[in-house]
Amino acid sequence: MHSPDASISKSLKARYFTDPSLFEEETSKIFHNHWLYLERAAAIEKPGDYHALEVEGQGLILVKDKDNTERVHYNMCRHRGTRMLNEASGHCKQVIRCPYHAWSYSLDGSLVGAPHMDETEGFSKEDYPLIAPAHTTWEGNVFVHLGDNPQPFEQAYAPVLTKFSPWHIGELRPVHREVYEVEANWKLVVQNYSECYHCPSVHPELQPLSHYRDTSNDLDEGPFLGGPMRITREGGGLSRGGNRTAPPLPGLTEEHLQQAYYYLLFPTLLLSLQPDFVLMHQLQRVSAGQTRIICQWLYHSGAISGENFDPQPTIDFWHNVNLEDWRVSELTQKGIGSRAYTPGPYSSLESMPAAFDREYLRAMA
Ligand code: FES
Ligand SMILES: [Fe+2]
Repeated sequence: MHSPDASISKSLKARYFTDPSLFEEETSKIFHNHWLYLERAAAIEKPGDYHALEVEGQGLILVKDKDNTERVHYNMCRHRGTRMLNEASGHCKQVIRCPYHAWSYSLDGSLVGAPHMDETEGFSKEDYPLIAPAHTTWEGNVFVHLGDNPQPFEQAYAPVLTKFSPWHIGELRPVHREVYEVEANWKLVVQNYSECYHCPSVHPELQPLSHYRDTSNDLDEGPFLGGPMRITREGGGLSRGGNRTAPPLPGLTEEHLQQAYYYLLFPTLLLSLQPDFVLMHQLQRVSAGQTRIICQWLYHSGAISGENFDPQPTIDFWHNVNLEDWRVSELTQKGIGSRAYTPGPYSSLESMPAAFDREYLRAMA
């Protein structure tokens, strides 16, 4: 009997997509051990504005401090642990107040009010500030690290620290946001994003605009993966109808204008950089077989305030591409549940999913 060539790289074993204990293992080895995208910094505008967020099971508060910097605190009172802010977003006038015994914290996290605790000998407010995970703002995005000894962000992101600066992502604003609940493991979504082998059969609308073989990778190993894909028609864009829906982003040069760039920032941020806008996908694990995906369409404020600005053809196009991708990812999740599944061979057009798998297995080692 002929035996398959062992040198061909293959997809991951089934348990990586289905086993709850592996899902748990990913928590400490990957999600509490890497920098994670939290939210757009511009989501909080004025001092006191906050978002209460949940990342990897951890309640966090993103709040704008009095000095206009972004602060991130665990959403947990230092008295007896109560979750304090329970609206998704809002405004704290001066302090964050716990709803239980009314301890209150300034926006920078220091404990400023603790009723009757002066009667407790040895108690000092300085000993009980809110706890903050490591956090930073890069390209207008707030990142957090939930681990104990985070590698400094600048070090972890060194390979891409200035790579995307021509797009000035920090100056872009979301014009649309879509939240998808997908019945597939997060890695299937990343693997799907990382190749266009599926494009001819899954995305008929994309093919005439950007050919699936007209692509290359300028980051092909490690936590940052991806590269450009040519936009076929001179001056065209990836939208319904194939036109750009805004002038090219200021900062882009000739070389960027006929390309769409697609990057994975390990583990769960997907960046699609277009001549006229940027699409961001944030993946949130729900369970081994479920992922929440938050997709944002970002445009330059100059374009947004322009006369006749209409991003709808881009929103419609990418929403449809998203749904096509989630569908095949869900079908793959279903198939991998089959007792007949064994890892299958990657094609030459799937070098990025293979590179992602290597990075993933390194992180899990
Ligand atoms: S638990 Fe917050 S004040 Fe008591
Ligand atoms: Fe796709």
